[in-house]
Amino acid sequence: MSDEKASNSMWGGRFASGPDAIMEAINASIGFDRKLYAQDIRGSLAHAEMLAKQGIISAEDQRQIADGLKTILREIEDGKFAFSTRLEDIHMNVEARLAELIGPAAGRLHTARSRNDQVAVDFRLWVKEELQRTEAALLRLIAAFLDRAEEHAATVMPGFTHLQTAQPVTFGHHCMAYVEMFGRDLSRVRAAVERMDESPLGAAALAGTGFPIDRHMTAAALGFREPTRNSIDSVSDRDFALEFLSIAAICATHLSRLAEEIVIWSTPQFGFVRLSDAFSTGSSIMPQKKNPDAAELIRAKTGRVNGHLIGLLTVMKGLPLAYSKDMQEDKEAVFDAAETLDLMIAAMTGMVGDMTVNAAAMKRAAGSGYSTATDLADWLVREAGLPFREAHHVTGRAVALAEEKRCGLEKLSLEELQAINPAITVDVFSVLSVGNSVKSRTSYGGTAPGEVRRQIRYWRKRLTRGATKSKSR
Ligand code: ARG
Repeated sequence: MSDEKASNSMWGGRFASGPDAIMEAINASIGFDRKLYAQDIRGSLAHAEMLAKQGIISAEDQRQIADGLKTILREIEDGKFAFSTRLEDIHMNVEARLAELIGPAAGRLHTARSRNDQVAVDFRLWVKEELQRTEAALLRLIAAFLDRAEEHAATVMPGFTHLQTAQPVTFGHHCMAYVEMFGRDLSRVRAAVERMDESPLGAAALAGTGFPIDRHMTAAALGFREPTRNSIDSVSDRDFALEFLSIAAICATHLSRLAEEIVIWSTPQFGFVRLSDAFSTGSSIMPQKKNPDAAELIRAKTGRVNGHLIGLLTVMKGLPLAYSKDMQEDKEAVFDAAETLDLMIAAMTGMVGDMTVNAAAMKRAAGSGYSTATDLADWLVREAGLPFREAHHVTGRAVALAEEKRCGLEKLSLEELQAINPAITVDVFSVLSVGNSVKSRTSYGGTAPGEVRRQIRYWRKRLTRGATKSKSR
């Protein structure tokens, strides 16, 4: 091992000399796949136990292998393991150390296995565990939103389309829109875990093996629902990584839209929310400033997460079946996206829980921009029997008049309104206030406070049901 030019002890049988230094640099993945050490050792423990039970290796060899692997796990966790680039990846680093520790029995571990199914099972285990972390993080974020929505079920704010004032909504309703979005992310996480819950271990290089292995046993030992059905697909499939990245990209995109809203809302011009000191920074030159850096960084990191998705899709798109070394490039993308997304969700959860909502500023803004014009048109249809198109036209004239007089719709006099359409009565003023406007929107999923509270109850119930379901799994 001290001879730098010696051929690789794992596959060097037909090689006279070792790789060029540049070859080693492009080939090695130990710099990042060491993250898979726990999954790699778990996979090997399950494999060795199965080999012994099937009589493929002796019970004594299996005992030595298991002891050795457990020692290696401790060494890595204590920071005492010497990772070697010459040994390429986590799989060969562990196996070489096993040989140092237990001698020839180590060479029996790789019976009926290849690094191709080994890396596939290790990586699936890792992604599955990461998705469970994502699930927990999303649940915390949704809980933070449900609390804010409950507090502000009746807090009126302007609703926007084209970022132009459209109609009054409640802040609770707006919060619940994000609950729907993160709720879909949550269901995507759960569905992806369900789909990837199959063990590729035992597919060997690509064709399966002639040894009498028990793939159901290793699948169960590793916590998978069942083994994969096709050995070629088992070693060439990276859908689980792509699905993780697409879930991450969609979730990051949701976070980014919210981050953008927080940036807008926290400007002095809007003043809808004030971020806590814990989630903002000051300027080194302008003492008055409080910057929404966390929101800005969440918005920016979305580019990075989305980039990883496109990166891996591009790696995979031209690969013939089954395994190609290209697939080694799957890991850095997933690891970085996972770390980034975890941080983004945590920062957003903190920000949403901490921010102060300025209900007065929201209400003031809700009343500007003729936000109740649709209410006037609806009133003309309902109470005066006008066809909606005509009501739309009448309302347009009222808005033009208010604009000319630089006042709100509710400040026009009854006489002025009747001059536009004589069917208008004093009754109309009841729908021109923003509070009455939101209260009237009682359609299923609408912005009326009662309706928002119904949505909150729905999610609270659904999330407790989901929790009992995943516990019983
Ligand atoms: N380090 C490799 C990867 O991450 C492991 C599989 C290598 N297999 C092989 N036949 N070279 O993909």
